[in-house]
Amino acid sequence: MLIKRTRGWEIPERETTPESAWSRRGVLSAGVAAAAAAALPAQAQAPTGGEDPSASLYPAMRNMRYRVDRELTDEKIATTYNNFYEFGTSKNIWQAAQRLPIRPWQVQIEGMVEQPRTVDIDDLLKAMKLEERVYRFRCVEAWAMTVPWTGFPLASLVEWCKPLSSAKYLQMETFQMPTVAPGQRATWYPWPYTEGLALDEATNELAFIATGIYGKPIPRQNGAPLRLVVPWKYGFKSVKSLVKFKFTDQRPKTFWLELGEREYGFWANVNPRVAHPRWSQASEELIGKNGQRVPSQLFNGYGDFVASLYENRQNERLWA
Ligand code: MTE
Repeated sequence: MLIKRTRGWEIPERETTPESAWSRRGVLSAGVAAAAAAALPAQAQAPTGGEDPSASLYPAMRNMRYRVDRELTDEKIATTYNNFYEFGTSKNIWQAAQRLPIRPWQVQIEGMVEQPRTVDIDDLLKAMKLEERVYRFRCVEAWAMTVPWTGFPLASLVEWCKPLSSAKYLQMETFQMPTVAPGQRATWYPWPYTEGLALDEATNELAFIATGIYGKPIPRQNGAPLRLVVPWKYGFKSVKSLVKFKFTDQRPKTFWLELGEREYGFWANVNPRVAHPRWSQASEELIGKNGQRVPSQLFNGYGDFVASLYENRQNERLWA
């Protein structure tokens, strides 16, 4: 990752927009989210609006177990400042990403499962119970945001896939469409973008598959129609626009591992005390907050949920 700018995800609950102000059906459309959407350029609104056949599923009820202690990032910022290398290496890829066809969209379940299968995104959405969660999001580039995601726990999907007891890891892959994604014509990148989690990480209650943000279907630039969100890890683990979930007993070789193992490791847990080889991770810039920097937190503030996953992995490179 070559970029230095910031975004962020973290807010004290008292500073978060109250649920009543935007998270309820009806209230949302008339409230803050609508105002934010109105401020968006027309093309940015399009992928989050009526054209998406799943639009009627949003907004979903917010799960208040997952609280953060900082303000939500402005929707316009979260949907126009993105990392999505398939569409370019700058942050300004949201327009280019509108070329991604998100219907029909098939998701393959492969590898060590009782029955490999292919599922249509809309059938998958029907099979899963959607909820909203506000999470902090921390990019390895030391920027951070705070985003209201809608989706379902990855644990529910894992259960639905019926993995064999021999499966140890879950590998996840993005689409491969060089004709619509110009970045994929750059042959020096190991496409398709692939990420992976150990199965106990994948079934941790925080691991989430997002299908929406800000009470609407997720826009293409943020990973439509479904993406991973693992808020205790650096953002490059949160792979976008997934087409494949593969259960395996081998640790997946991921996109960033192949590009630079020393800089972007497999575990990639947030730790302010372990610097990236080229910059400090001690603090992070909250994107859209006039350059405001705040101290970073171990596991991005989610240690109570995830620290136990790593107690028996102390000999691994857990942080970079
Ligand atoms: N997924 C794919 N397929 N391609 C990417 O380039 N970038 C990652 C992650 N998922 C990326 C991806 C990185 S580096 C970050 S920080 C987040 O997406 C950014 O998510 P956002 O644009 O929704 O903020």
